Amino acid sequence: MKGLFSIKMRASRAGTHVSGAERIVPAAEAAQTAARLVARALCHAKGTPDFINVKIEDPGDILNIPALPVETIVTRTAAEGRARAAELLAQAGIERIDEIMARFGETHGMRGAMLLDVDTLERLEPDRTRGVRATRMDDADSAAKGIAAKKNHYAEAIVLASKVQQAPGIVGEICISDDPDYVTGYVATRALGYRRITVIKDKGDPNGGRIFLYRGPREQVPETIRFLEQQSVLVTNVPSLETPHASANRFDTLTEELEDIAAAGLARNCRTLDSATGPTAVMDGREVVVLSSNDYLDLARDSRVTAAAAEAARTWGTGSGGARLTTGTQPPHIALERHLAAFLRTEAALAYATGYMANVGVLSALAGPGDVILSDALNHASIIDGCRLSGARAIVYRHGDLDDLDRHLAACRSYRRRIAVSDGVFSMDGDLLDLPRFLEICRRHNAFSMVDEAHALGVVGATGRGLAEHFDCPHPDITVGTLSKALGSEGGFVCGAQTLIDYLRNRSRPFIFSTAPGAPAVAAADAALSILEAERERVAQLRKNVEFFIAVLAEQGIAVQTQSAIIPIRVDDERRAVAAADELLRRGFLIPAIRYPTVARGAARLRVALMSAHTPETLRQAATTLDAVLRPS
Ligand SMILES: Cc1ncc(COP(=O)(O)O)c(C=O)c1O
Repeated sequence: MKGLFSIKMRASRAGTHVSGAERIVPAAEAAQTAARLVARALCHAKGTPDFINVKIEDPGDILNIPALPVETIVTRTAAEGRARAAELLAQAGIERIDEIMARFGETHGMRGAMLLDVDTLERLEPDRTRGVRATRMDDADSAAKGIAAKKNHYAEAIVLASKVQQAPGIVGEICISDDPDYVTGYVATRALGYRRITVIKDKGDPNGGRIFLYRGPREQVPETIRFLEQQSVLVTNVPSLETPHASANRFDTLTEELEDIAAAGLARNCRTLDSATGPTAVMDGREVVVLSSNDYLDLARDSRVTAAAAEAARTWGTGSGGARLTTGTQPPHIALERHLAAFLRTEAALAYATGYMANVGVLSALAGPGDVILSDALNHASIIDGCRLSGARAIVYRHGDLDDLDRHLAACRSYRRRIAVSDGVFSMDGDLLDLPRFLEICRRHNAFSMVDEAHALGVVGATGRGLAEHFDCPHPDITVGTLSKALGSEGGFVCGAQTLIDYLRNRSRPFIFSTAPGAPAVAAADAALSILEAERERVAQLRKNVEFFIAVLAEQGIAVQTQSAIIPIRVDDERRAVAAADELLRRGFLIPAIRYPTVARGAARLRVALMSAHTPETLRQAATTLDAVLRPS
């Protein structure tokens, strides 16, 4: 076969093998396959490697061979598995099985296999710590398919065993996994084929390895080793595993998916901030400018807010100890709900443990089979999940296209309840819902109107009361919000009519079946709300910061828009966005890359979120740095 490349990847950590793989693929697939194997190593369950070696070379002459016939032998204990292995090898004329099995005491940690003379039990590998590595082989089908083929331990083992049995002088092989959780092994001979033995060792036993069984003259050994290590082989007709879940390592499918995620540039990790959140924070021992916090009004570390939390912890304890309807309601919960309702000028409010739970809790309580939810295409994940959990029909209307909403609602008259739901401020683009029009359409179709004001509270409207204040119009039927952004705490809430709140208290499962938020978080949010009421200049300062930042970005030729404190800078390509975010961090600015699945594929962006506490100097520096990092070189 022409135009193929052999690709080998080995990864280790502190000198210990972590991951290894090899493929023979068409030249056009070589680069992607190499990237994929590296991605596999980087997210390996055994830990992140500190050394990865990728070798891409011409495979030389390729030998095409058929796969050994495969048979599975079901055993229940390690002893039974070993007894069956011994019987099979005896059939192939191999004796002294017990002594051969005892040699597995020597294979642990070897990268290659032991090459053992079956008659004299002499080890024939030139390097006994390394062993002999059977390499340069692949499944002919997956080689033809290139990178589309996934890692499949079962197929890889058959490919290897099939190649090994072709080597001069090899009369058999025994393989026992060194994964303590994987108890399946195999014996293979040319005559018997590949006999998979479901239990060949005890669970938890980390010992394992491979023994290649040799019979023949010593002079032939170098040729055997050359064949095993150098001869490129493609194996045809490799069977697939009929019952993958019964025998494959149960983590394999997770590893494969993680590999795919990493190869697409979508792997995610948490980064640690070693200080309180604020316009700056300490990361990895140095100060960075945080341009991505939702603590818009810098209240999370405000001494009045932290004192309220500390006082509440002393008085009411750190955890509420129960769900709201059992023992979890304390005076701070009632006080906060009253305060929120008064602030938003609604009849009542209900606190949830998170904003996510509030959205899920409202939608799953109000809607069910026979109802319909109309949801903006760019609504937050918690709304999407609430739609799914409700069991109602969900119709996604085009983002911001209220004519589309109107049309759908007109076609949904037969449903028992109709609920139109939208983010108030869209969390990834920073744009606003046209609330007056939304309300008018909902009223006309007698549909519930529901708006998530997570990013509007404390940001939108002259005093931070959100969209109703901004547009000078009534509130929707249902306002959902969070305590975790401008209020610097954590938790979520729903505001609306008393009937709505009474209904949710009786029907909303995340409210009923989850422990109430602790008094410290609740009291902190209450204190932050008081500060928001008293210090409206914070809201004004935040708006000034947004205008200033947009102006300085424009000076750099970066045109962005927002109607809130969220400023998306589109980069589109996922990898480029991540590289830009890394470079920004290197230069002292924390602006994360937002990628699929948070936004659509190919719509990656740097998402800036501003705070009232950012200074003009910081914002100007940030704009210059963004320009330097994003400008094509
Ligand atoms: C629009 C929107 N709604 C709801 C939430 C969930 O709120 P919480 O973080 O309090 O769970 C978020 C963000 O986290 C959000 O951006």
